[in-house]
Amino acid sequence: MKVMLSTTVNGEQVQEAVLPRTSLADFLREDLGLTGTHLGCEMGACGACLVLMDGVPVHACLVLAVQAEGSTVETIEGLNETGAAADLQARFHDRNALQCGFCTNGMLMSAQALLEANPAPTRDEIRDALSGNYCRCTGYEAIVDAIDTTARDRAARTEAAK
Ligand code: FES
Ligand code: FES
Repeated sequence: MKVMLSTTVNGEQVQEAVLPRTSLADFLREDLGLTGTHLGCEMGACGACLVLMDGVPVHACLVLAVQAEGSTVETIEGLNETGAAADLQARFHDRNALQCGFCTNGMLMSAQALLEANPAPTRDEIRDALSGNYCRCTGYEAIVDAIDTTARDRAARTEAAK
């Protein structure tokens, strides 16, 4: 039997009937058509499905959709719409920090959450934040470079605005 779910996704109020066993990832992808949340391992290991729930990265494959009741969920589509991570995306592109791109949306969600919580992370802290994101294509160095550069650019812009 389906239950009503009321949540906010990418700034929009959503009310949908869902099966209690539906994962948040399946809800986002199949019910809302937000396929930027990728599914890889479906067991919490690869990070391809990361979304922000109330600002905290969560594995959407492990969270039930009903657990998002009353929460605010942000997906890669939301970041694209607001442009909040446009500079981060540009640095990934500049630094060739992606190849097939399957992991990239999850990487961007982790990186964006990290930079919001810690605007000046060390490279070790960046690596730590990405420890749940697997990439089969890159050597991670370019990804860390892209995030490090974005942090420095954001700090310089904040300083210049003072
Ligand atoms: S699909 Fe969720 S962690 Fe891999
Ligand atoms: S770019 Fe292919 S898995 Fe990361």
